[in-house]
Amino acid sequence: MNVLSLFSGIGGLELGLERAGMTVVGQVEIDPWCRKVLAKHWPEVPRHDDVRTCVDWWRSEPRPAVHVVAGGFPCQPASSAGLRLAQDDERWLWPAMARVVRELRPEYVVLENVVGLLDRGFDEVLGSLASLGFDAEWSRRAPWVHHIHASACSSWPTPRANRGGRLRLDPRIRVARQRARGVRGSTSPNLATAVGGTPNPEWVEWLMGFPAGWTDV
Ligand SMILES: C[S@@+](CC[C@H](N)C(=O)[O-])C[C@H]1O[C@@H](n2cnc3c(N)ncnc32)[C@H](O)[C@@H]1O
Repeated sequence: MNVLSLFSGIGGLELGLERAGMTVVGQVEIDPWCRKVLAKHWPEVPRHDDVRTCVDWWRSEPRPAVHVVAGGFPCQPASSAGLRLAQDDERWLWPAMARVVRELRPEYVVLENVVGLLDRGFDEVLGSLASLGFDAEWSRRAPWVHHIHASACSSWPTPRANRGGRLRLDPRIRVARQRARGVRGSTSPNLATAVGGTPNPEWVEWLMGFPAGWTDV
């Protein structure tokens, strides 16, 4: 299946979709540094800089079929770390992504976003998808990712997974917390280069599941 990736960032979604056997045929990302990271890992894939003009770009020359449109549209309007203005935030770009879906008619749409979307804007997302003829399923199967995002630079939470009636610490969180302690104590080689309390790229790559060196550009 061919994937057109929107709001590509540094390609995390593509990495997962390719591991599932899909092929990335296009990427759209506005940040020049992110595009450098994308170019390092997908040198043959055509790239564009703005989802808002993506349809014209895609149609400007012969392209392969797009079976999947995938993307994590900017989460600031819905995130609990922000004002949660949703559609009243100028960074609310779901309509731009919905337009790409409407024009290119993929078979599938894959979205990723923060959990705050569920009560800030999700009704619009589901409504657009329904009006475009899509059924929708959603999952909160990785709540630990949200917890890590929310706390990577401050205190560590105690995410728990409820298994068999008992609350247990997710093993991935235990490892992450051990590493974080190493960072704070400056004993971990991963954290040795942290400046001003900001975790270094190597550690963040590890934390977010990217291969080491992914963002070396
Ligand atoms: C939530 S991040 C996506 C992260 C991505 N899934 C990854 O794995 O790295 C949203 C991205 O949208 C990009 N972005 C914001 N406005 C955009 C626009 N108008 N067109 C294209 N990309 C945009 C941001 O630079 C950011 O990298």
